[in-house]
Amino acid sequence: MASKLPLTVQGGAAAWGTIRGSFHSLMALLIAALMLAIIYLARDAEPPPSEEEARVAAEEVGRVNSVGRAGRKGECDLFSGRWVYDNVSYPLYKEKECKFMSDQLACEKYGRKDLSYQHWRWQPHDCDLPRFNATALLESLRNKRMVFVGDSLNRGQWVSMVCLVESAVPTDSLKTMSFHHNNSLIVFKAKEYNATIEYYWAPLLVESNSDDPVNHRVPDRIVRVQAIEEHARHWSDADILVFDTYLWWRRSKMRVLWGSFESPDGIYRDVKMPRAYEMALNTWSQWLEIHVNRSKTELFFVSMSPTHERAEEWGGVAGQNCYQETQPITREDYWGAGSDLAMMKVVETVIDDLRSRGVAVQILNITQLSEYRKEAHPSIHRKQWEPLKEEKLANPLSYADCYHWCLPGVPDVWNELLYAHIFKNWVPKLESRVEE
Ligand SMILES: *[C@@H]1O[C@H](CO)[C@@H](O)[C@H](O)[C@H]1NC(C)=O
Ligand SMILES: *[C@@H]1O[C@H](CO)[C@@H](O)[C@H](O)[C@H]1NC(C)=O
Ligand SMILES: *[C@@H]1O[C@H](CO)[C@@H](O)[C@H](O)[C@H]1NC(C)=O
Ligand SMILES: *[C@@H]1O[C@H](CO)[C@@H](O)[C@H](O)[C@H]1NC(C)=O
Ligand SMILES: *[C@@H]1O[C@H](CO)[C@@H](O)[C@H](O)[C@H]1NC(C)=O
Ligand SMILES: *[C@@H]1O[C@H](CO)[C@@H](O)[C@H](O)[C@H]1NC(C)=O
Repeated sequence: MASKLPLTVQGGAAAWGTIRGSFHSLMALLIAALMLAIIYLARDAEPPPSEEEARVAAEEVGRVNSVGRAGRKGECDLFSGRWVYDNVSYPLYKEKECKFMSDQLACEKYGRKDLSYQHWRWQPHDCDLPRFNATALLESLRNKRMVFVGDSLNRGQWVSMVCLVESAVPTDSLKTMSFHHNNSLIVFKAKEYNATIEYYWAPLLVESNSDDPVNHRVPDRIVRVQAIEEHARHWSDADILVFDTYLWWRRSKMRVLWGSFESPDGIYRDVKMPRAYEMALNTWSQWLEIHVNRSKTELFFVSMSPTHERAEEWGGVAGQNCYQETQPITREDYWGAGSDLAMMKVVETVIDDLRSRGVAVQILNITQLSEYRKEAHPSIHRKQWEPLKEEKLANPLSYADCYHWCLPGVPDVWNELLYAHIFKNWVPKLESRVEE
């Protein structure tokens, strides 16, 4: 199971190839930028929104906590709910129309015929999610950085976020994609807003021998659980940080290095899970405590993304996986064996502890809601980075990707949940800061 993971996370190079292709075609449009600069100036000069507009916007956001539908404590648990088939409002964007779509996640392009996975809306039990408004998000990100940090699941969520907002920037020359720090950092920029939505590759959050964003298929994984600064210095000043790390830790023990990869004096030890995970998350939380400006930066941690590798877990045929699944699981509270509650508990404990030291991290608990979506993985409908041998092709189950998620799809909902929290907590904070 764990040995399959590198297969599914290797997409880096080729995914960037795709993004780069779009990037180059963007260059051709640079000339148009000049003309648009004029529109941009004109736009800047627009009057502030009227009271009525502001009220409508506030109501839209207020629905998260609407009095009539709120839960017992007045707070609605956005993560508890059900999937509703809604082919009127979903998908929120079209796969083909997203300029920065990744071939790893473009299931329709790679031959998937049943597209119902694009049409499900997440309906919390006690309230409604606010409608995703890309313009409003970009406005709130003006002169700011939002950075996703983590593994390829987090990269998928970042691609989803870019696809969700880029339609609000219709002019190609006003949106760019660029590569930094040896390609570890990819930056989407909406120039008109001077807003960036970035992705930083750090699959284990702390430093490891898998940190090369392209060549990270290392059979023997080694983690420096006490070292994070080589990564963190590239994002600690961000305004919004969205972390994840889980799948790369899913093995019985990890090889841990004290010392550096270059030094001959390094000490190597095998550390059992989830202890090694806890050590790494403590390093991460200590970094945040010391280096993050808590009155500026909003912090999120995305809980584990479930996998669907064993159909018997949801009452399917033994030996099958997510391949050819077309319907979500309807059994309430379904939970797969791949989602380790002990590791989730570690995350919760580390984050509670950090909160007691004055740093708040919001957990986006997307595990349960994603558990239901066994049909929403790319399966065989994605780019294969190496041509498959005939014997593999003859057995699609053997190469079905049941880890990542098709786009448009489940990660769009993770971003709707992120959006709801941004507008409920962060935007009001920004506004009160302006008033001071
Ligand atoms: C939406 O789904 C319903 C029920 O499956 C179907 O009758 C209808 O034609 C669909 N509408 C669109 C716009 O695809
Ligand atoms: C989206 O947000 C913008 C900026 O706040 C606002 O002008 C616009 O009316 C909103 N659109 C919708 C459909 O609510
Ligand atoms: C653009 O945004 C960055 C943060 O991402 C900020 O440091 C910079 O000052 C902004 N530029 C302008 C001209 O406001
Ligand atoms: C960039 O990556 C290459 C190859 O992986 C490596 O040799 C080089 O040291 C890296 N450069 C920096 C600045 O990290
Ligand atoms: C922290 O952020 C706030 C809000 O942006 C800013 O006013 C303050 O100067 C920052 N503090 C430090 C130490 O940078
Ligand atoms: C996330 O939700 C699941 C059930 O949906 C729950 O068992 C778990 O404790 C929650 N985790 C956190 C960290 O809130």
